[in-house]
Amino acid sequence: MKGVGKFGEVMGTGKGKVSYDEVAVRLEKIIGSGSDVKAITDFVCRELRKVPHYSWVGIYHVEGSDLVLQSWSGPFATEHTRIPLGQGICGAAVAARETIVVPDVRQDPRYLRCFLNTQSEVVVPILRDGEPLAEIDVDSDRLSAFTPTDRMFLEWVAQTLEPIL
Ligand code: SME
Repeated sequence: MKGVGKFGEVMGTGKGKVSYDEVAVRLEKIIGSGSDVKAITDFVCRELRKVPHYSWVGIYHVEGSDLVLQSWSGPFATEHTRIPLGQGICGAAVAARETIVVPDVRQDPRYLRCFLNTQSEVVVPILRDGEPLAEIDVDSDRLSAFTPTDRMFLEWVAQTLEPIL
């Protein structure tokens, strides 16, 4: 599936307009660049954070029975750099092997708090042959921030990243 022209929506911000398709074009280029994997995942986090309601973006790798933070972009570092697979929304998405969207983190008992401002979260596992390799975690300072377009877009990013991980 090609990223270009797939997602349609344009988001207006104080700084101008950002479209999912423009972000997708840049992601496709860097993911296909053959660069070092860590350099690519760092870039992906930075690029995804250009989406106005993505406040913090991280990529965790599955290592044994833990999720280990590989790359992130946001105003603050998280203390949750290693999360046991049974914990958090992060652990739940890996266990379920599917995307989890949490519209209001205060209402979800699984939620592991990282940032005071986070109100909603989405976690998208990156699967290979059905098995979780890694995941993309996005926090938003807005309530109910993540739409079906966000889910489709982030699942596309996960599928595009999978072959290089
Ligand atoms: N909130 C996550 C933990 C990771 S931080 O958001 C960076 C969770 O509940 O798993």
